[in-house]
Amino acid sequence: MEKITVFTGAGISAESGLKTFRDEDGLWMGYNVYEVATPEGWKANRKLVQEFYNMRRREVAKAIPNAAHEAIAELQSKYHVQVITQNIDDLHERAGSKNVIHLHGEIFKMKSDRDGTMISEIRDDIDADAKAPDGGYWRPHVVWFGEAVPEMESAELELRDADIFIVVGTSLQVYPAAGLVYALPPGIPKYLVDKNPPSVSNLHGYTVIGKPATEGMQDLLKLI
Ligand code: OAD
Repeated sequence: MEKITVFTGAGISAESGLKTFRDEDGLWMGYNVYEVATPEGWKANRKLVQEFYNMRRREVAKAIPNAAHEAIAELQSKYHVQVITQNIDDLHERAGSKNVIHLHGEIFKMKSDRDGTMISEIRDDIDADAKAPDGGYWRPHVVWFGEAVPEMESAELELRDADIFIVVGTSLQVYPAAGLVYALPPGIPKYLVDKNPPSVSNLHGYTVIGKPATEGMQDLLKLI
């Protein structure tokens, strides 16, 4: 079975009603990223950070997977499919994708801000004063700016033996994640689906489908 590795960003969940980060109505237009998505922000104002992610969790709980998430899951009938997502939502899993790496964490998990390996499921809000058994505060299990991306290594491994690579809905602005588009075996077919494709350099050899993810994925299915 051929292997398809799919790399996704916020744009794939936009049509499920979840805001992206850098589009006109994106989250980083309404929030200061340093206040809500850095270890320094957490130290300065735990309550504000929890409120931001509690809101995200409620939105994800209400959202449902769209035709783009579903199209990726359907590829599993013909290919070995590995999803690498920057998204903290669980829409790929709910659409039926079996192999999903979350580079930037998962909104339905929390971890201790002391021992980050102490992880627990969370469906509801996290109280800003809630404490983990090790005495640390529970924080969202997400990767903040300035923090390491522990899943990068496994993501790179999943690229090395890919036969086809698909990128959907990411501005490719955030490293190290964005660097994945350059770490591919030479010569494999590469596709990029994005409503407003990023004009980053070095996207040589990509077949670009400049459409919303739901529509663009249908076009792509006809091409591969
Ligand atoms: P961005 O908001 O930076 O980029 C969203 C991309 O999706 C853009 O290229 C849009 O053109 C595209 N887009 C928007 N609506 C779309 C649609 N309906 N169909 C297809 N494409 C669409 O989001 P990301 O690239 O995911 O990290 O952002 C990367 C990281 O930055 C996030 O994981 C998050 C954020 O800060 C952290 O918080 C660590």
